[in-house]
Amino acid sequence: MVQQIASERLVATDQRHLIHPLHNSTHRARILARGRGALLWDMDGREYIDGLSGLWNVNVGHGREELAAAAHQQMSTLAYCSGYVGQSTEPAIELAERLAGLAYPNLNTVFFTSGGAESNESAFKTARYYWKRHGKPGKVKIISRHHGYHGVTMAAMSATGMSVYHTMFGPLVPEFVKIDAPYLYRCPPGIDTEVWPAATGAALEEKILAEGPDTVAAFIAEPVMGAGGVIPPPDGYFASIREICDRYNVLFIADEVITGFGRTGRWFALDHWGVQPDIMSFAKGITSGYVPLGGIMVSDAIADSIRSGSGASAWMHAYTYSAHPTCCAVGLANLRVFEQERLVERAAENGAYLQKRMRDLEASPHVDGARGLGMMAAVEVVASKEGRRGFPPERGVGSRAIAIAASRGLITRTRAYPGGEALCLAPPLVTTREQIDRAVTILGESIQEAIRATA
Ligand SMILES: Cc1ncc(COP(=O)(O)O)c(C=O)c1O
Repeated sequence: MVQQIASERLVATDQRHLIHPLHNSTHRARILARGRGALLWDMDGREYIDGLSGLWNVNVGHGREELAAAAHQQMSTLAYCSGYVGQSTEPAIELAERLAGLAYPNLNTVFFTSGGAESNESAFKTARYYWKRHGKPGKVKIISRHHGYHGVTMAAMSATGMSVYHTMFGPLVPEFVKIDAPYLYRCPPGIDTEVWPAATGAALEEKILAEGPDTVAAFIAEPVMGAGGVIPPPDGYFASIREICDRYNVLFIADEVITGFGRTGRWFALDHWGVQPDIMSFAKGITSGYVPLGGIMVSDAIADSIRSGSGASAWMHAYTYSAHPTCCAVGLANLRVFEQERLVERAAENGAYLQKRMRDLEASPHVDGARGLGMMAAVEVVASKEGRRGFPPERGVGSRAIAIAASRGLITRTRAYPGGEALCLAPPLVTTREQIDRAVTILGESIQEAIRATA
């Protein structure tokens, strides 16, 4: 009772003093107090499965004392110092070396940031920088995809392909252009997915030619789209993208902010298709969200151009918290947990199980389009599988299902499209099969109940 009064007071104070990401005053905050593995508890002691790993980031699960100890040790020794040119620290150097060993063979050099959007801003600026250094100052455009999510700072927002993020903050930064994503479930009727330009990569070539290859700096894509509703590519897609980028001298930026660090059952997701990017953005799983850290890794050719710049051609890009020693120390401790507990292999094994359990939900006439890779998955909620027709948005089936799931002990997220809704699951890589079963069962039951409740 006393606890409940305390949590009510916090909810009221939250409403009074906090603006939340994607703020919406009709939402009451759930006050979370504790976590262990894949589980969370709120202030009143209610237990939840963390079905989205926080925000796709708590890969090693909650309550890891070894990460807390690494932060404590580093903070007690040297919590912060600037990483600007002329200074460095052991954790930053060690982490950069570890990453060079883990990432694609052509990426050996790291610039650290504090999160995903900062990483993508760094990637866009670095792509432009590279072309200016190569005597092509007109190559400035960034091509991205509808449904893509790359963060919401000005340039990252302009690459993000979901209009809800643009409506109240336009105009977008100029020179950002978009193509369709290989969202196979929503391939236009009457078109064979095998030849659909969005799915073959041909849409990228068409856009590069339409804009003029001499104006395009880079193409950015998530290997598996995350916030857009967990959309994996068809098998040959990224090989085709790589080939097109090479043909037109366009840099390929892989946004592995979600897919990095084991999420898909490989260290980094393009590895599934044997493709290497020129620049890779990362964040989230590098510290499993325990402290904010992100970065970009760049190809040796790009690293050389940065290293050889000076004076007016210097790479004048920087963040106060770049290579933050405490964050890097936590990143190293996080990677030790990955290794000791074989988390990437476990994500592949348990991920295959998660995918199968999500496909089982398709037994319902209202669940379709199950998809994903490793420990990220989604299903579509549909009024009818015929014509893949979603429920009318005003019925709010997906958001009701998410609220019902929370009341039954599963926290997760929905993604609304013009034609329907997807419900996502991406629990921590340590989630047990019993917990996967529980999460999928709650999700399935919540969908059915939401359909009944909104009829
Ligand atoms: C693929 C991807 N890129 C970038 C970002 C932005 O990261 P941040 O919120 O840390 O700026 C996100 C966040 O969810 C993401 O999913």
